[in-house]
Amino acid sequence: MEVIIAEDAQAVARVAADLVSDLVSRKPDAVLGVATGSSPIALYRELSRRVEAGELSLARCTAFMLDEYVGLAANHPASYRRFIEDELVVLTDLASERVHGPDGAAPDLAAECLRYERSIGAAGGVDLQILGIGTDGHIGFNEPASSLASRTRIKTLTRQTRHDNSRFFGGDLDLVPHHCLTQGIGTIMAARNIVLVATGAAKAEAIHRIVEGPVTAMWPGSELQHHPHVTIAVDEAAADGLELRDYFVQTDRANSWGRSVWLDE
Ligand code: F6R
Repeated sequence: MEVIIAEDAQAVARVAADLVSDLVSRKPDAVLGVATGSSPIALYRELSRRVEAGELSLARCTAFMLDEYVGLAANHPASYRRFIEDELVVLTDLASERVHGPDGAAPDLAAECLRYERSIGAAGGVDLQILGIGTDGHIGFNEPASSLASRTRIKTLTRQTRHDNSRFFGGDLDLVPHHCLTQGIGTIMAARNIVLVATGAAKAEAIHRIVEGPVTAMWPGSELQHHPHVTIAVDEAAADGLELRDYFVQTDRANSWGRSVWLDE
């Protein structure tokens, strides 16, 4: 794992945006994996800035979302589809019709999971997956004790995650769905390159566990240790629990060679 410690959320966003820019300059029709939640917002704003400045175009890219709540229509204000529209699509030149997500309102959810999994494969797989991390170590909505080999499926959200996400539902825990469709850990691991962004002290334990702890389903993000090309970009607060903190790359010392090695196959 390449761990990069940046001074603040904006610097974390720039590290991740550099990866997107590098990839898209090499491969304009790249397939991006996009996360929702607070963590990638600064990254999406930085991508927006670069598109507006003419430094980047996502017009030929395709994107696949990680997850979606069960039971929320795509246009529900708290749906992840709506989030990606508002926070990424309208701010950049990424085309709405090129963004794909699992349909949490599908009548047959198991069939929908299979369809979604196949659609990622049919697009050639994800070139760069953007991830956040839950305070309990989840990636996508793969909660603790998820199979490390899992594929897109229905999952039950933990009380902790529902509590963490209630802010998107006006703070009302009762409005937060209990279930979601999520790419599995195996699906995420199939992405050729991964960048995980995390900021704030609430993520410090999860970052320590997934980077320095044993690989365990109790901290699902720890499976990323088995990925051949993953960058973990964190701010000082999220890096606070790292024992090897002084060893990891600080942005002012960051080199570009590690990040310029792209896995294409
Ligand atoms: C979102 C997702 C989740 C979030 C995680 C962190 O698509 O898959 O894994 O990345 O819950 O959420 P935030 O960034 O809101 O703290």
